Amino acid sequence: MPVPDLESLFAAPGSVRGRRVLLRADLNVPLDGTTVGDDTRIRAALPTLRRLLSGGARVVMASHLGRPKGKRVPELSLRPVADRLSELLGRPVAFCEDVVGPKALEASQALSDGEVLLLENLRFEPGETKNDPELARSLGELADCYVNDAFGTAHRAHASTAGVVAYVDQVAAGDLLTAELQHLECVRVPERPLLCLLGGAKVSDKLAVLEALAPHADVLAIGGAMAYTFLLARGDATGQSLVEPDRVEDARRVLAAAEAAGRRVLLPTDHRIAQEIDANAETRVVETIPDGWMGVDIGPETAAAYAAEARGARTVFWNGPMGVFEIDPFAAGTEAVAAGVAACSGRSVVGGGDSVAAINRLGVGDQIGHLSTGGGASLEYVQGLELPGVAALAKAS
Ligand code: 3PG
Repeated sequence: MPVPDLESLFAAPGSVRGRRVLLRADLNVPLDGTTVGDDTRIRAALPTLRRLLSGGARVVMASHLGRPKGKRVPELSLRPVADRLSELLGRPVAFCEDVVGPKALEASQALSDGEVLLLENLRFEPGETKNDPELARSLGELADCYVNDAFGTAHRAHASTAGVVAYVDQVAAGDLLTAELQHLECVRVPERPLLCLLGGAKVSDKLAVLEALAPHADVLAIGGAMAYTFLLARGDATGQSLVEPDRVEDARRVLAAAEAAGRRVLLPTDHRIAQEIDANAETRVVETIPDGWMGVDIGPETAAAYAAEARGARTVFWNGPMGVFEIDPFAAGTEAVAAGVAACSGRSVVGGGDSVAAINRLGVGDQIGHLSTGGGASLEYVQGLELPGVAALAKAS
C-alpha cells in the first residue's frame, strides 16, 4: 500500500498554513544529566520540521525518550531536547510539560502559523506503549493532521505511531521516514552482490535478521561476540569468549539455510583476544582461542577480508560492531570494516548506534550512502517485516 508523503499535505487545499500538525519524531537521544550527547536524531528531524514551519504550519512535536514505563521520570524529560532543538532550529521551541490534557490542548491552540511546540516524553503516559485508543484520541485532538517522521520508532505499534492516525483528518510520512524506506528498499531488493555485515553481542538479539538474511545476502559476514556462538556451532574452540550455548542450534540452522540457498557465510578466521575486558589488558592475535582467553575483536586478517568484501559489493548493509569497539585497543576490527564500507563503490546502508558511531569516529560518514537513524527499525525492515508505523500511515490514507 502506498504511503502518502509530505507533498500530499502541501497539495491539500490551503496547504499546511494555519493547520495544526502533530509531528511524531524520534528524539530519543543520549542525555548526560540535562545535556544532550549525540544530537544526530535531532538534526535528522530538522528538514521536515523546517518545511512545515516555513509552510506556515503550527507544529506540535512529540517523541519518546528512553523507557520510563508509563511514569514521569524527571531524568527523562524532553526539556533539554527542546532547548537543543531550539538552538539548531534558530528559533524558539515552546515546551509543554504534559503530553495530553488541558495544558497540552491549550498550548497547541495558542500556536501561531510557523510556531512549534514540543510535548513532554510520550512514554510518561502508560497508554503510549499499549497503543491505548484513549491516549491516541487525545493526541489526535491536538492537531488537524499527523506526520510521522520517527523512523527509529516505526517498528513499534504505539499510540503515537499507530493508533493516532484514526483521530486526525490527514496523515503523511515525513521526509526522513520516506528517505529511510527508500534507502533500505535497496537492501530488500538489492543490486548484487549484496554483503550483509552483522555484529553485536548476542545471536539471540539478531536471530530473526540472521535467519532472514542468510538465504538473501550473497555474503553474510558475522562479527562481534555472536560470531563465537557460530564458531562453537562449527566445533571451534572459543575459550572464555561470550557464547550462548542455547543458541548453537539456531546458529547451525542459519548456516544450513545459507548453504541450502548457495550463499556464503563468513566467520572470523583470526581473533584479537584478551583475558579481561580492560583497556590495559594484554592482547594477542590468534587463529584458535586458547582456554583462559576471550575474543574481544575480529583479527586483522578477518578485518581485511570483510573490508575487501565490502569494497567489492554492489550493496552493503552493516549493523553491529565487530568487537568491544568502545575500548580503543579492541576497536581496530570495527574501524577496518567501517573503512571498507566507506570505500564501497555501490550502495551502502549502515544502521545501529555503534556502527554509526564507528563511521563517525573515522570521519567517513559522507562516504556512506545512508546512515540510518533506526537500529531496530532498520533490522526489522530489511528482514521483510511490515513496520506498524508505516502500515498505519498507508491504511489511514
Ligand atoms: C531506538 O532508540 O531504537 C528507538 O528510539 C526505539 O526505542 P525503543 O527500543 O525504546 O522502542
